[in-house]
Amino acid sequence: MGHPVKSCLFVITFNLLIILYALSLCRKNMNETSVVAPTVLQIRYTVSREKLEIDDKFPIVFYSTAYLDHRYPIPRLRVFSMNACVSPREFISAEISGIALSGNKTTRKRVRLRGEPTEGECPWHWATQCFYNSYIWTAELFENGEERKGHIDGITILLNNRRISLTVREIHPKRRGGFTVCIQPVYWYSEFHNIALFIETWRSQGATRFIVYYHSSTKQVRSLLEYYENIGILKLKSWPSFGSLSSTVSAHFNFPSIDSSTYRVGHTLAQNLCALEMKTEIGAIADFDEIMVADRGLLIEYIEETLKNKTFGAISFNHLLVKFDPKISSMDYSGVMNPIFLNRTGPSKTVFNSSSVDILATHSVRRFIGNETTITAAGSLLHYRHNSYTEIVDTVKKPFKMLPSYPQLHIKRIQKTIITVLGSPIPPYNSTLLHTLNQCISKIVGEGKCRSTVAYCKQWMDPLADWIREETVGVFVV
Ligand SMILES: *[C@@H]1O[C@H](CO)[C@@H](O)[C@H](O)[C@H]1NC(C)=O
Ligand SMILES: *[C@@H]1O[C@H](CO)[C@@H](O)[C@H](O)[C@H]1NC(C)=O
Ligand SMILES: *[C@@H]1O[C@H](CO)[C@@H](O)[C@H](O)[C@H]1NC(C)=O
Ligand SMILES: *[C@@H]1O[C@H](CO)[C@@H](O)[C@H](O)[C@H]1NC(C)=O
Ligand SMILES: *[C@@H]1O[C@H](CO)[C@@H](O)[C@H](O)[C@H]1NC(C)=O
Ligand SMILES: *[C@@H]1O[C@H](CO)[C@@H](O)[C@H](O)[C@H]1NC(C)=O
Repeated sequence: MGHPVKSCLFVITFNLLIILYALSLCRKNMNETSVVAPTVLQIRYTVSREKLEIDDKFPIVFYSTAYLDHRYPIPRLRVFSMNACVSPREFISAEISGIALSGNKTTRKRVRLRGEPTEGECPWHWATQCFYNSYIWTAELFENGEERKGHIDGITILLNNRRISLTVREIHPKRRGGFTVCIQPVYWYSEFHNIALFIETWRSQGATRFIVYYHSSTKQVRSLLEYYENIGILKLKSWPSFGSLSSTVSAHFNFPSIDSSTYRVGHTLAQNLCALEMKTEIGAIADFDEIMVADRGLLIEYIEETLKNKTFGAISFNHLLVKFDPKISSMDYSGVMNPIFLNRTGPSKTVFNSSSVDILATHSVRRFIGNETTITAAGSLLHYRHNSYTEIVDTVKKPFKMLPSYPQLHIKRIQKTIITVLGSPIPPYNSTLLHTLNQCISKIVGEGKCRSTVAYCKQWMDPLADWIREETVGVFVV
């Protein structure tokens, strides 16, 4: 290895980890013909570890809300974070304070939280170059039953001398009725023409509420989202950048910043949070260019009928690519009445019962609380992805309708909403922003780097628009 490579390859040894961190960053110093440098961040653990307790030198950032989850037979405390991989034997110490119903006094209790990557593996095979992974840390509480009905006021994470306070929210089995759709964190989102169509189609299929995790977008996108928030059907949840590691960590080790080594924006963390936050039993996760439909009848009726069989906790919808003629980016939505279906596969998505979901992955329920299983839907996930216009594939005949009844009326409402929010004439959609983002992603993929799109594409995207960014402080804490 040449000198520049050696200089940025570093080896850290401390009592917890030996981290061999062969940075993909080194690559830019290498000439193209030299030996292929390891681009995967390798995290190795010593065989015998003296200390299994996570301390203040470990790179981790917490979501500021922890959950006391009563959906399990024994209530669980669940803490969400982004961090380097850990082994199942490692744990985080925390102190909970609460009031037991039996008494009147505040009691404190030490617990050990065990971590599990939301993807079921760490590193995740889709994101082996990413240093940080979504984790859920869990402790079972009130095992002896007597304190079961007590409640928790707060939790303090203890990392040596560092204390991190999290607020606690209680989760109970969800309520019957209603249908909540979660949208993964939107970042650098510019396709404003998708949003009104998304809301209108999902509502016409029975959705009652939307939760959007928000990182960044154009002004038009933000205005439309705020419009739907103001009429009370959509909730915007802050998903800002993760911020810096604690000073203790960064003073000792040259770990990458969290934002620069996280797949996308940590979307599986947001998805799992959304499944907890939703108040309705029936929920789904989708992107702004997707709608699920049933072979026959309304989506919600099909879901309710299918979930009557209590062995099913989720329904998986197979992917079907769709395009419209004319394109909806022209603001003419008449093509939505007769969508063109394309014979192109893609990943499926699920509708689930949020009372029975333990951990969600992006395209499936990874684990249920009970013995529930996932059934394949008699229906489809219709995906009107921007690149469907350039795909050279056969069209296929399908019976699906995106708007099951009175489509003209819905289409009128879509156009009226956009004019109400953005003014008339509707500002033209500029596809440069999306194309630039896709070019940047291709570059990351080509270079074999962690797809930390937000950090990596910043220089490309910043100059293109006046981006609205989520900057709420305290959502993530170190
Ligand atoms: C709890 O404490 C308050 C004041 O400290 C007292 O008024 C109340 O009676 C107590 N309740 C019980 C159940 O001990
Ligand atoms: C959702 O799951 C819970 C817990 O298993 C169950 O009681 C409830 O009936 C299910 N709801 C639906 C709509 O299937
Ligand atoms: C529920 O689904 C399972 C699996 O398909 C099936 O074996 C069972 O008979 C169904 N139960 C009812 C009540 O329909
Ligand atoms: C769709 O494509 C697959 C393979 O690409 C092919 O086997 C299948 O026959 C096609 N279906 C239709 C309806 O064209
Ligand atoms: C789940 O399955 C296990 C093993 O088959 C069984 O022992 C248990 O009773 C089941 N639990 C429920 C809630 O059906
Ligand atoms: C689209 O945005 C880019 C980047 O801001 C700009 O250079 C270009 O002129 C815009 N195109 C149109 C048609 O507005």
